[in-house]
Amino acid sequence: MSQRGVEKGSGALFADAGQDGLLHRAFLRGASFTEEDVRKSPVVGIANSASELNPCNAGLKELVEDLKAGIREAGGLPLEFPTISISEPFTRPTSLYLRNLMSMDVEEMISTTPIDGVVLLGGCDKTVPAQIMGALSADKPSMMLTAGPRPVSCFKKNKEFTVDDVWPMCEKRRVGEVTDEDWRELEGKVNIGVGTCNVMGTATTMAAVAEMLGFALPGSSLAPANSATRRELARLTGHAIVASIKAQTLPSELVTEESLENAFRVVTALGGSTNAVIHLEAISGRVGLRIGPERFGLWSASTPYVTNVRPGGTRLLSDLDDAGGVPAVVGRIGHLIHEDTLTATGKTWGQILSESSFPANDAISPAAEPLSPRGALMMLHGNLAPRGAVLKAAGKHDPRLQRHRGRAVVFDGLEDLNNRIDDPDLDVNADSILVLRGMGVLGAPGMPEVGHIPIPAKLMRQGVSDMVRLSDARMSGTSTGTVVLHITPEAVAGGPLGILSDGDEIELDAEAGILRHFLSDEVISLRTPMENPQRPERGFAWLHQQHVLQADEGCDFDFLRGEPQTGSWPEGETREESALAHSE
Ligand code: FES
Repeated sequence: MSQRGVEKGSGALFADAGQDGLLHRAFLRGASFTEEDVRKSPVVGIANSASELNPCNAGLKELVEDLKAGIREAGGLPLEFPTISISEPFTRPTSLYLRNLMSMDVEEMISTTPIDGVVLLGGCDKTVPAQIMGALSADKPSMMLTAGPRPVSCFKKNKEFTVDDVWPMCEKRRVGEVTDEDWRELEGKVNIGVGTCNVMGTATTMAAVAEMLGFALPGSSLAPANSATRRELARLTGHAIVASIKAQTLPSELVTEESLENAFRVVTALGGSTNAVIHLEAISGRVGLRIGPERFGLWSASTPYVTNVRPGGTRLLSDLDDAGGVPAVVGRIGHLIHEDTLTATGKTWGQILSESSFPANDAISPAAEPLSPRGALMMLHGNLAPRGAVLKAAGKHDPRLQRHRGRAVVFDGLEDLNNRIDDPDLDVNADSILVLRGMGVLGAPGMPEVGHIPIPAKLMRQGVSDMVRLSDARMSGTSTGTVVLHITPEAVAGGPLGILSDGDEIELDAEAGILRHFLSDEVISLRTPMENPQRPERGFAWLHQQHVLQADEGCDFDFLRGEPQTGSWPEGETREESALAHSE
């Protein structure tokens, strides 16, 4: 018996005097709900992605009780249900491979059950965009409560050990500079509690996006997992979803051209994760909007990078929380923000800012002295990336490499990379450009976070700590370096990355937004394009290959996108014109 088509927000199926209402109430009574409980309205679903196979979200198991208390305090009936959960460290080939599947799970659970609205409980990187995408397509009143960052640990002399400190340790281990004893000790220090990565990685970046789009309460991204503050946020979220259902605020009204621009400007002011580019495009696609690489590039170039937190900066997320969190960053770039967009409180961002004051704090630089006058995410085009690529210019990277010409050293997939990267005979030097291909959304599949190609061991021993690296893969939001990602089209989809050979000359000019090769048409005609090795014949793997879109379209499935809106965004330079201009 489908619940689709039930009048939204009416609580109709539980209040119904006939057979449907009787059965709905009766089945809940059988699960120990009282006669009074089953007549409460609104009925609020809780889509909980807590899972032992996803330790980042494990704290949601406790947090949900505070959320339920908040919903009951506001007069509603909370009904929790599980959804699949996607874990960054555990899901192979990659978490992005399952994001659209999770969004379908969330959408169908919201659409087909007799709930008036929903609270989405997410945390680890892909769970947050998957839930927002599903809620947008279901379009019942929705709010989000994120898991919050896990505690910071202490390892050796490093007083504050955060997740981004793991990567240098792994690099040192490759060249024999970490002992077996330290390696064992490290295992107990990476994660000393539940919660999401404790730097401005993808999870916290997407939590900030949820705030900016009006799904999560302003200032809710940074309170530590399972802290008293987060438990209070859970209760307040319970109150807010009941108010949102009564006001019939729909997700499709929250995601607008203005709120998407606000969200991306804040991401780039935060030095946030490159993954946000893909997820924001997918989110916008669910309401029939298209952002496009040019618009991302324009917004980033005109937004100052103001947030000094790891991995791009030096301070902790707790310092940014003390400074006022995401609302304080919004305030710092307030002149660029559309103030009439809605927050999850029902107030506009303009109202929130006018009621707030933020103490000076080193985690946010003064308006007159940003860390950089432009945002941390740079969009690239050119004949090597006809439909775009992205580079994060924040954190540990060699600024001299932002403009660089070098010769390619090409790896076809992870196995090839692992077999040869530390070969003493590999023909590579510090000026080489490392290329990893076949790692896109079709070829890998799912764009694993492997674009942060390791520096060859023999160069590490010479003190080389950064090189230009190119890939059609993604990278962790906790990584840094001169790493060009999401090169589109990917190699196995006919992208020029697929025809490169060792020794080909490549130019990166990040400031000008250019990524190009110098191959003649004649040479190109003699090269063999890279083939897609994936040929699944059934199941989700087949569905993924048939319907997934490239990175510049958010890697969503084509059949999940909304009807195109004829929006008011000005038409910018088309991708083709831009690519042509940059390749000349
Ligand atoms: Fe789950 Fe980082 S690995 S939030």
